[in-house]
Amino acid sequence: MSIRHFLSLTDLSPQELEHVINTAITLKKAHREGQINKQLEQKVLGMIFEKSSTRTRVSFEAGMTQLGGAALFLSSRDTQLGRGEPIEDSARVLSRMVDIIMIRTFGHDIVERFAKHSQVPVINALTDTYHPCQLLADIQAYVEHRGSPKGKKVAWIGDGNNMCHSYINAAALCDFQLSIACPKGFEPDAKLVDQYKDRVTITHDPIEAVKDADWVVTDVWASMGQEEEQKAREQQFADFQVNHVLMAHANHDAVFMHCLPAHRGEEVSAELLEDKSISIVWDEAENRLHAQKALMLFLLGKI
Ligand code: CP
Ligand code: NVA
Repeated sequence: MSIRHFLSLTDLSPQELEHVINTAITLKKAHREGQINKQLEQKVLGMIFEKSSTRTRVSFEAGMTQLGGAALFLSSRDTQLGRGEPIEDSARVLSRMVDIIMIRTFGHDIVERFAKHSQVPVINALTDTYHPCQLLADIQAYVEHRGSPKGKKVAWIGDGNNMCHSYINAAALCDFQLSIACPKGFEPDAKLVDQYKDRVTITHDPIEAVKDADWVVTDVWASMGQEEEQKAREQQFADFQVNHVLMAHANHDAVFMHCLPAHRGEEVSAELLEDKSISIVWDEAENRLHAQKALMLFLLGKI
């Protein structure tokens, strides 16, 4: 059987995605009930980080421990990767020692090259282009709070970044319409938008995007690796804050999500982020744990 990787959300079929999400919901309940699940006993996850992380690192490491396995944190600062060992060599060596690997890095080509030379499943834990693990958690959160996202309207407000690209993939897989509002010059990848033009629209007006939306989502204005653009972006994105005034244009039962970390007073108001009647960001964050446990079980052929 060929190795299954998870480099973008589209590595799963709609049915497989639904299966992973349903498993995540079941695992969450079982975990809360204190049930023991050792399905990944003796399995080792290698975790390569070339960028910072709180949620991704902790959720993968805790998830692996909870399933009876172990996780190794491999920072590029302390491994030979940071000293120029080719990604292809690292993939060949590490995949002879561990059972599954996740990578957080810059260029998407790095995870593709790694996967090509790996004997074990590779998970994209964020690149400059995609953040598919976050989408598993977001979809799970929507399903838990509001049911199926099929036929819903989702509004993405802000940068056309890695998260936005993964939302475009999710629109196709989950069958929802995605309205993206971004400042001019910060649109998502044109080829990707064109590929999914039947379900993705771009506007520069946040009100238009949020109008009648069921699910509103944003992310930081400057992603990791764009720190030097932070100040300029604060001005360019000033009209794109998600707050109660903007949310008033959405459907009355719309939810707000943010992958976190959040910059209060920039892309989201502090009041909206903390408004439990709209914001489900803490459930969304927790779901990284459950969704990635389900993903690892899937990639390792256990579910
Ligand atoms: N949302 C997310 O991926 O968070 P971290 O950067 O903390 O992993
Ligand atoms: N777009 C953000 C997401 C962080 C989880 C970044 O890439 O920094």
